[in-house]
Amino acid sequence: MTLTERKQEETIQPHGGELVQRELDGAEREAYLNQLDSLPQHRLDAWSLSDLELIGIGGFSPLTGFMGEEDYNRVIEEMRLKDGTIWSVPITLPADKKEADRYEIGSTIALVDEDDVFYGVLELQEKYTYDKEKEARQVYGTTEEAHPGVKKIFSKGEVYLAGPIYLLNRPGHGGFEDFYLVPTETRQMFADLNWKTVVGFQTRNPVHRAHEYIQKSALESVDGLLLNPLVGETKSDDISAEIRMESYQVILKNYYPEERTRLVIYPAAMRYAGPKEAILHAIVRKNYGCTHFIVGRDHAGVGDYYGTYEAQELISQYEDELGIQIFKFEHAFYCTKCENMATQKTCPHDKENHVHLSGTKVREKLRNGEELPREFSRPEVAAVLIKGMKEN
Ligand code: ADX
Repeated sequence: MTLTERKQEETIQPHGGELVQRELDGAEREAYLNQLDSLPQHRLDAWSLSDLELIGIGGFSPLTGFMGEEDYNRVIEEMRLKDGTIWSVPITLPADKKEADRYEIGSTIALVDEDDVFYGVLELQEKYTYDKEKEARQVYGTTEEAHPGVKKIFSKGEVYLAGPIYLLNRPGHGGFEDFYLVPTETRQMFADLNWKTVVGFQTRNPVHRAHEYIQKSALESVDGLLLNPLVGETKSDDISAEIRMESYQVILKNYYPEERTRLVIYPAAMRYAGPKEAILHAIVRKNYGCTHFIVGRDHAGVGDYYGTYEAQELISQYEDELGIQIFKFEHAFYCTKCENMATQKTCPHDKENHVHLSGTKVREKLRNGEELPREFSRPEVAAVLIKGMKEN
């Protein structure tokens, strides 16, 4: 049996071997809730709250908490946790120095959101300062604040709080609750559907024809497609998760086989870390039970910070170790001569025949209420986007 066949026969292993679950219920949960009033409170922004949630539900397995200094340093320098497991982007909890001084090592800290709603606890094991420029350079490959991920680093507190967490209340997900599943549930769903091979698709955009093409090309080779859009914090000019979720439902209903496709939200913040985020995205989808993951053109990129295929090149080096198979796709477009979706690999015609729109151009057209070309976007999707833009 080849490695591929063996991998496909078994349920995919979570990253690091075990699916972490840091949610408590019953008496254990009550015990924390009862002491809540006496605990110091630390406020999390939306980004950190989504990290807390992903650790809690096991999306970030094998992490059981916010990273300590040894893991942090090894992750930014070598892309590995201290035990050697591949990990590409630090998962840390920032605090201002003044706040950090209030918390004692060994204490339990209540984690609340910006409205003081309580979500979980941190068993504080470490507090450490870090070099913001170094983190920016190592993770994002730039120290320019025009990069949204770098801007975030420079705006946050100068100390990281670290230690294991428990998630005691899950954050709400507005109108998306029907599309919320934790990794144990997606794994069960795949088993119930009898999907032995599942391709995960990350997106922070509406599904346009190019996305559809690469998803369906992949779906030709596997049992199911998990459309797993990121709905946490994104940069302000990205299309909102609310509008996108409506567009996903419309395109799935009209153009995808119901029995081979599922829509589940990925409640994470977008880092725009390009190649390194592609690896994080693959790890999380592996934890959700996907056997395959798509990395296309400029995955998780922003502006011109990363080369078109840099994410594919980096992830290729770690594919065996990651244990999830990567479907890599070249830049896809509609070719008016082929009268088909295609890539350079499959189309012999000149660029003038290729329909391409940049994200900026798309947003501009939508804001002006203009239709998107049918070769670029399904009309049902375009209609949702135009309506959404008008209402916002
Ligand atoms: S991302 O930031 O989440 O990566 P986006 O939602 O645009 O952005 O992309 C989702 C996935 O589709 C990524 O793997 C990306 O590389 C891929 N992709 C997007 N557009 C194209 C395209 N025209 N051709 C090939 N792959 C694409």
